[in-house]
Amino acid sequence: MRVLVTGGAGYIGSHTVLLLLEEGHEVFVVDNFSNSSPESLRRVAALSGRAATLYQADLLDAESLNRVLGETKPDAVIHFAGLKAVGESVAKPLMYYRNNVTGTLNLLDAMELAGCRNLVFSSSATVYGECTELPLVETTQRSATNPYGRTKLHIEEMLEELAAADERWSIAALRYFNPVGAHESGRIGEDPQGIPNNLMPFVAQVAVGRRDKVNVFGGDYPTVDGTGVRDYIHVVDLAAGHLAALDYLAQRTGSFVWNLGTGEGSSVLEVIQAFARAADKDVPYQIVDRRPGDVAENYADPVKARLELGWKAERGLEQMVQDMWRWQEQNPYGFPDEQPESLPDEELNEQIRLAASKAATATDPTTNKN
Ligand code: UD1
Repeated sequence: MRVLVTGGAGYIGSHTVLLLLEEGHEVFVVDNFSNSSPESLRRVAALSGRAATLYQADLLDAESLNRVLGETKPDAVIHFAGLKAVGESVAKPLMYYRNNVTGTLNLLDAMELAGCRNLVFSSSATVYGECTELPLVETTQRSATNPYGRTKLHIEEMLEELAAADERWSIAALRYFNPVGAHESGRIGEDPQGIPNNLMPFVAQVAVGRRDKVNVFGGDYPTVDGTGVRDYIHVVDLAAGHLAALDYLAQRTGSFVWNLGTGEGSSVLEVIQAFARAADKDVPYQIVDRRPGDVAENYADPVKARLELGWKAERGLEQMVQDMWRWQEQNPYGFPDEQPESLPDEELNEQIRLAASKAATATDPTTNKN
């Protein structure tokens, strides 16, 4: 299948691109590198022995987007590109609506023009708002507590309305719980800019010595040990969920939604302890005030995805923290800094193809002279 991936150089995007290449799909990536690096795609090429074709473009640039879709003629689009920091969305709501909602509108227009009506969208468990009825099932009433969450909710509604109005569309919204971990090679992983907002990358940076200690937001929740409980899901399992959704959409039209979670909750202290074991290091922490907007506990009901997609998360917390630590230890400062916009697409694509062909040569027994 010809699959176009927006935000394909990012954390979840790069793991999904790798899986698509490994499964033999032809992959096109659209990314503006606002929160990612082309190095991830070189490494994906080196891991898979195949190259995705990169287009540096912003979803707000409708003309470029139309050109890319017209040129690549994808059978399906997986749409990751978007802003995702809750605090920043409260400070800059218009930036979030513009990027996430207008960006998605531009993408849908470009897809219409190119005759591609097959879409997998990155949604989030954030659309369950402050719901406390657990586990969270797909039929739970949606709500939002901040502009970031509201962009996801608006987009989900927009997609449902589109599929209802035009029966040629096949659309999946995947509601991610808390994506963590990294590819088991340690070559690709999450590379947050600045101070990480999310727990796991913060813990990883403490373990590697970049930060002193973890602030645990709240020790008095009505949970197993007083700290917040979340459904952490390995990013490679999450990536596999996108391929399962693509297969599902290839058979039918309409709009569909699935939770992608494990169904198991872990507390902040359980995460810190598991990480300390994996890294064989002390991970100092202190309990501080609750973070405004946090709920005590949430975890998915993952049954719908299992029954309909035949997908379930295979990896548990131990593997999540082990893989996360391997990535963090090998890349303490993430991907090397570079200014991708200073290089033209052709040059970046040449580098990606080179990384792929080196890997393909190294693993091909007919050409391997070592
Ligand atoms: C957060 C977002 C959510 C978004 C998701 C993306 C908020 C309120 N929610 O989810 O909308 O979809 O990220 O991955 O920001 N914690 C600490 N110390 C830290 C960081 C976090 O104790 O330094 C705790 C939190 O209180 C929470 C748990 O760790 O109990 C997980 O937090 P986090 O990784 O930020 O994810 P969510 O808040 O679940």
